[in-house]
Amino acid sequence: MEQQKRYGHFDDQHREYVITNPQTPWPWINYLGNEDFFSLISNTAGGYSFYKDAKFRRITRYRYNNVPMDNGGRYFYLKDGDTVWNPGWKPCKTPLDFYECRHGMSYTRITGRKNGVEASVLFFVPLKKWAEVQKLTLTNQSQETKTLKLFSFEEWCLWNAATDMENFQRNFSTGEVEIEGSTIYHKTEYRERRNHYAFYHVNAPIQGFDTDRETFVGLYNEFANPDAVMEGKPRNSHAHGWSPIASHYIEVTLAPGESKDFVFILGYIENEQDKKFSALQVINKEKAHALIAELDTTEKVDKAFAELCEYWDALLNIYKVKTGNDKLDRMVNIWNQYQCMVTFNFSRSASFFESGVGRGMGFRDSNQDLVGFVHQIPPRARQRIIDIASTQFPDGGCYHQYQPLTKRGNNDIGGGFNDDPCWLIFGTVAYIKETGDFSILDEMVPFDNQPGSEVTLFEHLKISMDHVIKNLGPHMLPLIGRADWNDCLNLNCFSWDPNESFQTTENVSEGTKAESLMIAGLFVVTGKDYVALCKKLANGQRSTVNGQWSMVNVQCDFAEEANRMQQAVDAMIEAVKKHGWDGEWYLRAYDFYGRKIGSNECEEAKIFIESQGWCTMAEIGAEDGMVAKSLDSCKKYLECEHGMVLNNPAFTKYIYEYGEISSYPEGYKENAGIFCHNNPWVIIGECIAGRGNDAWSHYAKILPSYVEEKYQTLHKVEPYVNCQMVAGKDAFRPGEGKNSWLTGTAAWMWYTVSEFILGIKPDYDGIRIDPCLPETATDYTVCRKFREAEYEITIHPNGVQKGVKAITLDGQPIEGTVIPYSVGKHVVEVVM
Ligand code: GLC
Ligand code: GLC
Repeated sequence: MEQQKRYGHFDDQHREYVITNPQTPWPWINYLGNEDFFSLISNTAGGYSFYKDAKFRRITRYRYNNVPMDNGGRYFYLKDGDTVWNPGWKPCKTPLDFYECRHGMSYTRITGRKNGVEASVLFFVPLKKWAEVQKLTLTNQSQETKTLKLFSFEEWCLWNAATDMENFQRNFSTGEVEIEGSTIYHKTEYRERRNHYAFYHVNAPIQGFDTDRETFVGLYNEFANPDAVMEGKPRNSHAHGWSPIASHYIEVTLAPGESKDFVFILGYIENEQDKKFSALQVINKEKAHALIAELDTTEKVDKAFAELCEYWDALLNIYKVKTGNDKLDRMVNIWNQYQCMVTFNFSRSASFFESGVGRGMGFRDSNQDLVGFVHQIPPRARQRIIDIASTQFPDGGCYHQYQPLTKRGNNDIGGGFNDDPCWLIFGTVAYIKETGDFSILDEMVPFDNQPGSEVTLFEHLKISMDHVIKNLGPHMLPLIGRADWNDCLNLNCFSWDPNESFQTTENVSEGTKAESLMIAGLFVVTGKDYVALCKKLANGQRSTVNGQWSMVNVQCDFAEEANRMQQAVDAMIEAVKKHGWDGEWYLRAYDFYGRKIGSNECEEAKIFIESQGWCTMAEIGAEDGMVAKSLDSCKKYLECEHGMVLNNPAFTKYIYEYGEISSYPEGYKENAGIFCHNNPWVIIGECIAGRGNDAWSHYAKILPSYVEEKYQTLHKVEPYVNCQMVAGKDAFRPGEGKNSWLTGTAAWMWYTVSEFILGIKPDYDGIRIDPCLPETATDYTVCRKFREAEYEITIHPNGVQKGVKAITLDGQPIEGTVIPYSVGKHVVEVVM
């Protein structure tokens, strides 16, 4: 097959990415759903749906790492004479006369045309509904009457996505369905402990159906040529055990020019225990009927879709930039913010690289994700902070992950990642600065979800800081524990057993000297934030939230607390300067035996990115030139065409004392991959140091809209979002992307561009203006909604990289760089 140069393009006006060739170098996916019901959908309609938890409530089945790739999904088959085709090209792969997939904000529209018939499907999850709607529009664009046979297709998953893939001795005997009119119900395990079922409905009479996979497909056929479809005859099969599916059969006649809509609904229902059945073995369908009734016409669906679009208008209206550079504007105004919301919703659970059965929500990941969406949905950020803090232990340590359905800490992975506590401060401070809601600090929050153990959230922050202070090593630097941000830097694990996971195997704390410079920098950054917060509280800080005064009742001598922590921060700075500097860059760590990691003295991996990022953000040793040297070293040793690699030179052999990091071949993941997540740390370091040209050039290298043009084929993964990792300079194919969508990169890219490059920083008392720009930047305007105010801020850079000279607020000059918060609309002019 001849490789096409381009597979798609941005459509900024509609906030869509338009894919014009279905054979993308990797499935390019989108996410549907915003609260409880979620779906993943690829550009050929592959993917699956789940309710809240991708492991425990998987509604439709999906096979990861399959051949062919991305098989299974929601499929519409059209049989027109002898030709069978799908609007999304797959699974039949019949060549289409026209194909287009538009991924938009929580919706996807796939259109195919063949032999004068157009089939266009709009997929979305209506707000507050537990259902995926698929509005199929069939149009006869030919001169003759068309008689078509339409088959829908979904395959049910037996709820628990993990056992669904392994426990076949049981699974093949449990499947159960019910058929009622045009609705197919999936009720496996409902007879016993489950109180939920799913259904697949169409708002038209059907002329047949299938619910048993083997009968529909034929044992020796594939999704590409199911028996029933090829023959044009449904079997009306009734699944019992084996593999239940849902397929409607509809005969459609269309006059020339005629168009017909069909609304398909994939729904999920929960019943109260005592209302599960309407008769023996007959599920109570009342709620399903009600849900169907809310969505069963084109008008109702169009209205629900309009509401979804308005929801996104509102979310994306909070921060809007106009720079005149389309590539930047579309990432800031659309895709970066969208990806942040998706990461908020899915954490690291379900993507085309995360199977949905592995990980729960990460403690550190969720706190970082928060800076990406807190401006859009502050109440949910508030709840998220409390959920996360509730999994903390009384000594300030934390469960590394928790399960979204139960919100409880995950015992399988446990704790001991010593960076985790600091992130709670990072997230909470971002929340308070955005909202002015100091009252969150008064919330009573338990330890390890134990009722009766509640203390204030402020107390949780305090013990988080103390956890670092109480776990210092021989150089007075933070002990790393199981790992710090770099999950793979396992300095206390020592594993020779391939059956062990580095994330859960032994963590020798006795006698360890393993210290982390990454945590040291993180501690200084979050420690300064904590001190500033205490000072605010010492001044009796109050602020308004929705017109109400927000007060903190926490009992604490805040001035004394600020003082205490300032000393700890100062001591940490001294420790880094004394024991954490290698001459040209910051060390990365000390190993179990107290030997340097990330030093010029090391054979490999002489320099690491994480400590450069955090120690430059913390400005440690700036006055002695350390920050500038570190940033220069990043350019010299870490930077390549596609971004900055994590370490250099890459490890070429497994090092038992270092753990998983050296398990990866060079250039991938934590071994010298471009781990996009941590590039922004250095970029922020550049911004704080005022080096706008450098900050911008690093930023543009990993900005998807810039990558889009250059690497449609090389990069492989979706060109509209960031991926976790791009293969580094030591890899076989540098520039190849992996692990798209669910990555801390989204929030960090947002934080970097919105606050440090464009320079609009929410602060306790207002908005701080402090851009750091390339010399080439021209005038730009940011419209920022902030609490109950709206600011239109125009910046005149005048070729200056950093430094605000003058600000006027509504025509009046102000002192300093913080625009004081006041309700209403304001116009701000900034001269640099
Ligand atoms: C993954 C994890 C994140 C970790 C990073 C580096 O992205 O989700 O928690 O910090 O890898 O190992
Ligand atoms: C692996 C990955 C790392 C991830 C971790 C989480 O170690 O390399 O990126 O954070 O798994 O389970």
